[in-house]
Amino acid sequence: MADGFSSEMFEDSSIDATARVVDTGSDADERTVEAALRPRRLSEFTGQTRVCDQLSLVLEAAKRRGTPPDHVLLSGPPGLGKTTLAMLIGTELERPIRITSGPAIQHAGDLAAVLSSLMEGEVLFLDEIHRMSRSAEEMLYLAMEDFRVDVIVGKGPGATAIPLELPAFTVVGATTRAGLLPAPLRDRFGFTGHLDFYAPDELVTILERSARLLEVSADTDGITEIARRSRGTPRVANRLLRRVRDWAQVHGRQVVDEEAAHAALALFDVDDRGLDRLDRAVLDSLCRRFGGGPVGLSTLAVAVGEEADTVETVAEPFLVREGFITRTPRGRAATPLAWQHLGLTPPQGYTAQPSLPLDTGEGRFGA
Ligand SMILES: Nc1ncnc2c1ncn2[C@@H]1O[C@H](COP(=O)(O)OP(=O)(O)OP(=O)(O)O)[C@@H](O)[C@H]1O
Ligand SMILES: [Mg+2]
Repeated sequence: MADGFSSEMFEDSSIDATARVVDTGSDADERTVEAALRPRRLSEFTGQTRVCDQLSLVLEAAKRRGTPPDHVLLSGPPGLGKTTLAMLIGTELERPIRITSGPAIQHAGDLAAVLSSLMEGEVLFLDEIHRMSRSAEEMLYLAMEDFRVDVIVGKGPGATAIPLELPAFTVVGATTRAGLLPAPLRDRFGFTGHLDFYAPDELVTILERSARLLEVSADTDGITEIARRSRGTPRVANRLLRRVRDWAQVHGRQVVDEEAAHAALALFDVDDRGLDRLDRAVLDSLCRRFGGGPVGLSTLAVAVGEEADTVETVAEPFLVREGFITRTPRGRAATPLAWQHLGLTPPQGYTAQPSLPLDTGEGRFGA
């Protein structure tokens, strides 16, 4: 592990947007287990092959040149491995990693303090980078380009900018909302990796590893069933594995098998397609209250009693990817599959609307 690496430091400041999925254990316990299950080397990291191949090339080339690599931006829905990959960058480069997050940097001065204490070649991990203040964003993109910050001393007409040279460093930014980053900041990243949902067989590999680490004995059918119903998300898969293990333990079973998976997932409201309560509430509102839509994001969020941000970053990407809803210029709309999944019949002449792209940073979409 690289010097200066502190998982505790990070875990405390992390906001787990997928926590609502079968959230039973205490938060601290969940975070400890999560940290224990993080792959420590790029070679242990399953899936996201394209991003991993590209990233290892960038890192390897930088190592051979003996210079810090370009700044890296990792984007994608919660729980897919952004933090894990950021940590791996530090480990693979054998460089210390400094960890902070957007919400912790509310003033340019907070950022100046971090930047001015960086060492040559250090990796600065900025989680939830889209939640930094505007003034800090401006300071950051100048620092990323020129390795220099202007520290403002004093106020009003007497204020002076003192330029401060910084050693070369690498920023690794993580965000669930790349579309919210201002273009000048986004452009400063030499490499952007967008993480996508995992295929069930990749989740099987991840779950087998987790079961080994947690010393849970699980058979192939049990693991496959959990993988299939984990919303393509390793964090959800790992969490469901622990709940199924709980069920097996309480019912005196030695092995996590398909029956245990069925029973535990039913108990925790995870349906056959892996949709959880919020996912189904979104579909239910769309179909029953809004006749299938289109309906604006904020209206939909109020209807399901959630923050618009949670609906947009947590529920929506998976529902779009699985073909349950579409994003249209006038809002969100249900597809025939959504009606069918809820056991409802769409109104006569109901047609699906073509979907706009998700928020991957290539273009912002809001409704
Ligand atoms: N490719 C993977 N292989 C094995 N485990 C993984 C992988 N990706 C993620 N995980 C596991 O899933 C959990 C969540 O991953 P991580 O914290 O990196 O997600 P994140 O993208 O940073 O989420 P958030 O947006 O909520 O911060 C971790 O415990 C990690 O062990
Ligand atoms: Mg994270």
